[in-house]
Amino acid sequence: MKFFVDTADIGEIKALAELGLLDGVTTNPSLILKANRPMREIIAEICDVVDGPVSAEVAAVDADGMIAEGRHLAKIASNVTVKVPLTWDGLKACRTLTGEGTMVNVTLCFSANQALLAAKAGATFISPFIGRLDDLGVDGMDLIREIRVIYDNYDFKTEILAASIRSANHVKLAALIGADVATVPPSVLKSLVQHQLTDKGLETFVADWKKTGQSIL
Ligand code: E4P
Repeated sequence: MKFFVDTADIGEIKALAELGLLDGVTTNPSLILKANRPMREIIAEICDVVDGPVSAEVAAVDADGMIAEGRHLAKIASNVTVKVPLTWDGLKACRTLTGEGTMVNVTLCFSANQALLAAKAGATFISPFIGRLDDLGVDGMDLIREIRVIYDNYDFKTEILAASIRSANHVKLAALIGADVATVPPSVLKSLVQHQLTDKGLETFVADWKKTGQSIL
């Protein structure tokens, strides 16, 4: 499973990239608002740090506007992935931009039929939003499972990018189902390493090692 980080915070991205943990980055208008800097500058900086796909979302809601913005964003760096919403206009923009060799991430996916349409429109990535479905009392993981089956049935190459991930358990379940990518907030990515028995075991080993009076070096 590939790990993308879902943030526009360049400090967080640099720290995670140094660990070699990052396969890509996703941003959205809300994350750009939070970063409070010009989008173009943010995306260019992220693309300098991360080699993998960096999603930059269009603001237009009509196909022509999305295509124009997408072409503009794609010029920032070769790893920019243009993010478009899952609407008819978004699908049209997806078809045009992928036809021009630009990677496209179709976002705001909440149903298997939407994901089927995105794959048929040639999407590079489909982003089903797990957490936002969970918020409605619907199991978001069922959507990942359904899309996996459909894409495998027809051998679609569109990658399933599990999004709106809120917990370490979401990451584990998406990996078990076979999502190709998980885009994860930095705090959740860091939480994956945590286990109380690891901390407890390490404490004991450190204490016992001290008692041996030995030194390895
Ligand atoms: C994905 O690309 C989105 O940016 C993101 O995962 C949305 O997550 P949220 O529902 O926590 O805002």
